[in-house]
Amino acid sequence: MKRILGVIITVAVVVVVLSESEPRGRGEIIGDNTPVPAVGELGGPDRVLSPPELTTWIEGRRLFDHDFHMDEGLGSPEYNGDSCRACHQFPAIGGHGGLDLNVSRFGDDGFGTQPFMNLPGGQAASKFRRVDIGGREEIPMNATVFEQRQTPPLFGLGQVDSIFETAILAGQDPTDADGDGIFGVARMVSVAGLVEVGRFGWKNQVPRLADFVRDAMGGECGITVPDNGRGFGILMDDDGTPDPELTTQDLNKIAFFLQHLAPPPRAGSTDPAVALGETLFAQVGCVKCHKPSLPGLEGDVPLYSDLLLHNVLGPSFRGMAEPGADVGMYGTPPLWGARLSAPYFHDGRAETIADAIGMHQGEAAGVIAAFNLLSPSDQQALIDFVMDL
Ligand code: HEC
Ligand code: HEC
Repeated sequence: MKRILGVIITVAVVVVVLSESEPRGRGEIIGDNTPVPAVGELGGPDRVLSPPELTTWIEGRRLFDHDFHMDEGLGSPEYNGDSCRACHQFPAIGGHGGLDLNVSRFGDDGFGTQPFMNLPGGQAASKFRRVDIGGREEIPMNATVFEQRQTPPLFGLGQVDSIFETAILAGQDPTDADGDGIFGVARMVSVAGLVEVGRFGWKNQVPRLADFVRDAMGGECGITVPDNGRGFGILMDDDGTPDPELTTQDLNKIAFFLQHLAPPPRAGSTDPAVALGETLFAQVGCVKCHKPSLPGLEGDVPLYSDLLLHNVLGPSFRGMAEPGADVGMYGTPPLWGARLSAPYFHDGRAETIADAIGMHQGEAAGVIAAFNLLSPSDQQALIDFVMDL
C-alpha cells in the first residue's frame, strides 16, 4: 500500500510543476466512452442503474471532468481549478487531491492575540486569475492567519446525503453530560430562513450534496449558476460571459453522478489483526466520534463518522472561524476509504494513519491516551483495521 501511495504522491508532484505556470490540462480525461467501472468499484456507480439513469450518470461524469474555458465563463474572474476532476482525481475520478491541490483561506486573528475576524472579500484565496484580466487576487495586507484545506474524496457522498438529520442531532453532547471530555455539536446552517444540519466540507458548512455542487462551481471554478433560492453558488460575475454559465439541468447531472458514486470498497483483509483492531478501535473510544454507521434512507451507512464538529486540535491551533464552527472545530471525517486518501486532517498535516492518531488533542486527548497504553502490536492492529476500511 505504501508503495502505491508513493506513486500517487509522485504523480501529484508532477502536477504541481505543470500547474505553477498554467492551470491543469485542457483535455477531458474521461470521455463518454470511458468504461464505467463495475457497481461498487472505485469510480463506479453505487447500484445497478437503469439505462436512462446510466446515461445521466455518464453525462454527469463528463461534466465533472469537463475543463471549462474562458469563453464558458471560467473564473469570476478568480478560480482554483478549471474542472471538478482537476482536484478530485485520486485514485479515480471523484477521489481526493494531493497537497498541491489544497485551497487556502485567510483572515485576521492579530497573530493569535485576538478573536478571529473575517476581512473584506471573505476567506477564500483563489490560486488563479484569468489571463485576459491579468494580475492576481489581492490578499489584504492585514491578513494574519491562513488555513490550508485538502481536497477530500467524494466516494459514497450520496449515502452521506441520505443520513437522517435526527440521527446526527441525537449524537450531540454539547454540555458533555456523560463527562468523557467529548462534546460534539451539529453544524447548524441557515438556508432560506430555515435551519438545516451541515454535513459536507471540513467544517460541515454545507447541508446537501447538491448545494456543494453549486458552491464548488462558484468557489472553485468561478462558474455561475441559476438561483434555486438556497443561497449556494455564485449567481453573477463580471467575466463577460452571460450568467448563469451552467444550466440547472447540467448541475443536476453532476449531482446525480455524485449521488450515485459508489462508497469506497472495504479492502477486505482476512488477517486476524484487522478483526482485533476493530475491537480495539471500539475499546479505546475512537467510535465515540468515528461512529461505525449512521442510519440513512436506504439503511445504515458505514462511514465511521458522527457528522458532528469537535475540537481535536488543542488550544494553540489558529485557523478560520465560521458562524457555528469556531476556530479548531472540524467535522469528524468519515474513515471509509482512509487508506486511499493520505495525507490526513483538514490541512494534510498527518502523513500516515499513525501520525493522524498521534495528532489528535483536545476532545480526543483521553482516547489517544488509551491508544498510547496499548501494546505496539495492538496499536498496529488498530491501524490495520483503519487501513482496511
Ligand atoms: C481547487 C481544487 C478543487 C476543485 C477544482 C473542486 N474541489 Fe471540491 N473540494 C476541494 C476542497 C479543498 C474541498 C474541502 C473544502 C472545505 O471544506 O473548505 C472540497 C470539497 C468538496 C465537497 C465536499 C466533500 C465532503 O466530503 O464533505 C464536494 C461535494 C465537492 N468538493 C465537489 C466538487 C465539485 C462538484 C467540483 C466542481 C464544480 C469541485 N468540488 C471542484 C477542492 C476542489
Ligand atoms: C473527539 C472526537 C474524535 C476522537 C475520539 C477521535 N477522532 Fe479521529 N478525528 C476527529 C476529527 C474532528 C478529525 C479531523 C481533524 C482535522 O481535520 O483537523 C479526525 C481525524 C482523523 C483521521 C484523519 C482522517 C482524514 O481523512 O483526514 C483519522 C485517520 C482518525 N481521525 C482516526 C482516529 C482514530 C484511530 C481514533 C481513536 C484512536 C480517533 N480518530 C479518535 C475526531 C475524533
